[in-house]
Amino acid sequence: MPEYRVLLIEQNRIMMERLSSVVRNTKNFQLVSRAMDAREALGQGGVFVPNLILLDIDAQESMQLVREFVRAFPQAGILALSSQWNAQAASTIVKAGAKGYLIKPFTSEELIAAINTFGNSGMGMISEVMTFFSPKGKSGKTTLIANLGMALAQKSGQNVAIIDADLQFGDMAVFFNLDPQSTIVEATRDIKFLSPISLNSYFMPIAEHVRVLCGTKRPEFAEDVSPKAFTDMISMARSLFRYILVDVPSAFNPISVAAAEASERVYLVSMISGGYEGKHMRQALEIFKAWPDYETKVKTIFTRVEPCDIQKQQQLETLIEYPVCSILPNEYLLVSEAANNGRMAVDIKPESPLARSIDLLAAQICGRPHKVG
Ligand SMILES: Nc1ncnc2c1ncn2[C@@H]1O[C@H](COP(=O)(O)OP(=O)(O)O)[C@@H](O)[C@H]1O
Ligand SMILES: [Mg+2]
Repeated sequence: MPEYRVLLIEQNRIMMERLSSVVRNTKNFQLVSRAMDAREALGQGGVFVPNLILLDIDAQESMQLVREFVRAFPQAGILALSSQWNAQAASTIVKAGAKGYLIKPFTSEELIAAINTFGNSGMGMISEVMTFFSPKGKSGKTTLIANLGMALAQKSGQNVAIIDADLQFGDMAVFFNLDPQSTIVEATRDIKFLSPISLNSYFMPIAEHVRVLCGTKRPEFAEDVSPKAFTDMISMARSLFRYILVDVPSAFNPISVAAAEASERVYLVSMISGGYEGKHMRQALEIFKAWPDYETKVKTIFTRVEPCDIQKQQQLETLIEYPVCSILPNEYLLVSEAANNGRMAVDIKPESPLARSIDLLAAQICGRPHKVG
């Protein structure tokens, strides 16, 4: 672990003493300078060559000084300190160039976790939330999300979250063979008291750069999840993950609507079976047409498409009178073999048509230009 040379800026004397002792007592952290006044630190802090600046932003002025700190200390990472999580402030300071946000007072463990979480890339303010909705019943969306999550992490090398918000029938835990300590119920219940660092621990790691927040353990817990807390949780998760994939139930309920509204993109997923999928897709599209930007925001995906080729894709587009963003082949055997082994299709058979289709979709998502914040 590298050595951190810390410049601590804190306006409150008692808090300053408390945080100083935490920094001093954390292995590999050295407190090289401290200041109660941010402007003073800006002028003099450089002589100590800090590579980590902990900047109290509860003082209104310091918030505006973030940008000047970034300019004055290009070799240092800046973590904002605040006594309370505030999504708006977090967004502002990250746009100004800070790497992350830490709630004070913090412990040694939290300080280390902050460094590990925000690392070199910092809080990913350019995060993208994608909600996967199926117009009707079984659509293959859980399979798609799980595999797409892995593919996105591999392709981008950045953090990916999967959130199971299918509160009644969520099956991500089963899919990944997890017995989660904490689920969406605890995360939304505790959200008021959480910061990004502590929220991260509610997500279970399942692969490098991929974490899952599982759904409720019992369907009756679903009503404990409020749409407001859910939206707040998504907004905090944005500072931890580059891509956030949300699995929502088929029905339009307060949570699926909240998820769709909090998302940059909504994917409507429908499985080919029985022949009504075009009709269902059209009906779902109709509902989203109320959004002014629905043509960029809403995408469609068909699964179990046979034959899975461009002609079939065009045929589906004609049927629904809307572009089809991706089609996935019928690969029941591969999907169930993967499920039985607790593994992902994209991992066991990366050359399979299913894995290739998902990879293509991942490439599309990674290649998209993103608007910041
Ligand atoms: N591309 C596919 N081809 C064939 N079968 C699939 C495919 N994707 C999923 N399935 C199967 O369809 C069923 C439902 O899949 P699942 O991903 O759980 O859908 P949902 O989350 O929409 O209910 C599962 O039995 C799964 O194995
Ligand atoms: Mg599902």
